[in-house]
Amino acid sequence: MAEKLAKAIHCNTSEIHPVVNSIPILFLLSLLRCSIPVRLSDNALLENYDEIILIGPIWGGQLIAPLRTAIRKCKKSGKKFHFALTCESSESDKDGPYGYNHVFGILDSVASDAVLEKAAFSTTLVKNYSPEGRTIQSEKIRITEENYSEALKEKLMDFAGRIAKSD
Ligand SMILES: Cc1cc2nc3c(=O)[nH]c(=O)nc-3n(C[C@H](O)[C@H](O)[C@H](O)COP(=O)(O)O)c2cc1C
Repeated sequence: MAEKLAKAIHCNTSEIHPVVNSIPILFLLSLLRCSIPVRLSDNALLENYDEIILIGPIWGGQLIAPLRTAIRKCKKSGKKFHFALTCESSESDKDGPYGYNHVFGILDSVASDAVLEKAAFSTTLVKNYSPEGRTIQSEKIRITEENYSEALKEKLMDFAGRIAKSD
């Protein structure tokens, strides 16, 4: 989604690499509302750009630890940022404890003064989405080039438009 957005609004991308790459440890730190040291693939990102767009997934209804650190870095350098989530929660469960609005609430509590536009891209919008495929044993659905749908594109272009307008 980050790459597609970058293409739409002609901006650069940089990956956020947490120093620990284990999902269980990152999940635990996220539940404890801790941040974790991260390395950005573009070191000069925060110095070179006026506005940042952060994109990452929801895990366990939490603001994940690497995003928490990235937010802290933006705030420390006085940068405003746009914020988007990828998630499996849909419009109908967005307000639940695992929904994207829950994470937006946490975001507002840590950085409301620095947040610009927000968006959520749900895996329920992929092509041929089937809720029956969501069993505990099944792998989480991921957004891929093959299942990228018109509905996701619409959401992405809406976010891109709002970002452009906010400049
Ligand atoms: C450990 C774990 C916990 C998750 N918890 C949530 C959740 O609480 N709410 C939600 O909407 N999606 C949740 N998801 C779904 C992810 O947000 C979704 O798979 C992800 O955004 C897809 O992005 P990715 O392809 O970069 O992993 C979870 C996924 C994992 C792996």
